[in-house]
Amino acid sequence: MTPDIPDTLRFMPKAQEHQSMPHILVLNGPNLNLLGTREPHIYGKTTLEDIGTMLKTWGKGNGYSIEMRQSNHEGKLIDWLHESRESADGVILNPGGLTHSSVSLADAVAAIGLPVIEVHLSNVYAREPFRAHSYISPVALGVISGFGATGYLLAAQALAPRLLSQEEG
Ligand code: DQA
Repeated sequence: MTPDIPDTLRFMPKAQEHQSMPHILVLNGPNLNLLGTREPHIYGKTTLEDIGTMLKTWGKGNGYSIEMRQSNHEGKLIDWLHESRESADGVILNPGGLTHSSVSLADAVAAIGLPVIEVHLSNVYAREPFRAHSYISPVALGVISGFGATGYLLAAQALAPRLLSQEEG
């Protein structure tokens, strides 16, 4: 079942008042296709599809287009980040385990020059020590970790005003 959007996260600065609809690309890394059944005591029971539905509902209500993708392959995620320069205004990225290992993914985030928010369902700082290091965080606009599926909405909410001010600038 798709979780409801909390009222506090439902409403945002209205992008409809601006000329074009900002496009947010939501990228998900390895193993996140298994959300819902994967270690639910850590990652919750919400599926990635549910998260996509929730984000699209939020986007519809607030005037942002949302595109959700997932890959288990580092190179694919890097290609999508490169392509996002042409197609997106901002990116929400849950790099999964690549967070803690991928210099190449961090380089791609740094290269594209778009605002990127790093999201983790779990609180990576409260888990194994190796999860406390992220290659992505130094090149991300910000990090949201530990709020489950709601973290994606928090990221959208944090990103949205940036995209409007980009348009105005
Ligand atoms: C994760 C945290 C990572 O450490 C882990 O490898 C994941 C999921 C999260 O959303 O909490 O695959 O990014």
